[in-house]
Amino acid sequence: MLRRLYHDQPAAFEFTPANLAWAKGQITKYPEGRQASAVIPLLWRAQEQEGWLSRPAIEHVADMLGMARIRALEVATFYFMFQLQPVGSVAHIQICGTTSCMICGAEELIRVCREKIAPAPHTLSADGKFSWEEVECLGACANAPMAQIGKDYYEDLTAEGLERLLEALAAGKVPVPGPQNARYACEPLAGLTTLKDLESGRTQYNGSVQRAVDLGDGIKRIDGTEVPLVTPWLGTGRGAGAKPAAKPAKPARAAKPAKPAGAAPAPRMAAPAAPAAAASGAAAPAAGKASKPRVLKAPRAGGADDLKQIKGVGPKLEALLNRLGFFHFDQVAAWSADELAWVDDNLEGFKGRASRDGWVAQARILADGGQTEFSARVKKGDVY
Ligand code: FES
Repeated sequence: MLRRLYHDQPAAFEFTPANLAWAKGQITKYPEGRQASAVIPLLWRAQEQEGWLSRPAIEHVADMLGMARIRALEVATFYFMFQLQPVGSVAHIQICGTTSCMICGAEELIRVCREKIAPAPHTLSADGKFSWEEVECLGACANAPMAQIGKDYYEDLTAEGLERLLEALAAGKVPVPGPQNARYACEPLAGLTTLKDLESGRTQYNGSVQRAVDLGDGIKRIDGTEVPLVTPWLGTGRGAGAKPAAKPAKPARAAKPAKPAGAAPAPRMAAPAAPAAAASGAAAPAAGKASKPRVLKAPRAGGADDLKQIKGVGPKLEALLNRLGFFHFDQVAAWSADELAWVDDNLEGFKGRASRDGWVAQARILADGGQTEFSARVKKGDVY
């Protein structure tokens, strides 16, 4: 299936304060230099907030994580769990159309969706409350045919049953999920044939359904009011506002010898529409600008720094940087956004690598005498 960004995009995206605090807590789960690992949870939270993933939301997440926007776009367009177009305000119905469900009547469920919601998938119903799509096996084959609605599975469905579900949802009710044909779980329709003693003392519903009923949030979107992310590694017990998200967002510390005029402090968090370079440690460049940084003809007395301690710089790139006139961490640390753009453009065969890998932010730490998780591994000889 072709997955494209929606034709009608909002102008901007911002996390709500609660979701932003949650996102910052998530990012602290990953070691320095690995913040991009938080891309899926952050994209998911953005989708929960808005209902779907817009381009500004994807780019906002990329900027927060200091990763190239195209990388976040790749993730968002690859995984089908990300909705790239608006979904129904009440519910998005996902009908399993794989073998077991298809044999047991999924086509009838899809017919109901076409008639009651919209003729085509990924299209809003006339009242904007519903949308639908056909998905691959959701792992409830023993209860085919089935649909996922919000967080829950509705199983053993019939066309009439699905119609009733839609009516109930439209009326503001949340029907009990699970088997819709009076089965408890996925036992034979005629009842248990083994382990019959387990029938006594069981809860009203099977474990999954009981939990869903207890929580009652099947079609509620996560909005940040839930139990906060626990971040014991921060010593706070909560993720909310505990710590800056990532070292790349650290304010700039000017490098003494090679600080070029105009180097600006980096923002703690990239603005919604700021390019990836902002989160990589340099100020946002004006579109299309690139200016050459000051360079050296040779290393200063004392010799060149080991630029390979910067994640993303291998022997070839170090040699290239030296040829361009960069030998020291403080030189890299002092690149402004425009200068970073120039460097990115001049990394023959590696264009864009400097901003993609956040060289400036790493170099600031190294120029200050600190070390990154990656540089520590280089010093230990763990990086080849
Ligand atoms: S085939 Fe539908 S859940 Fe597996």
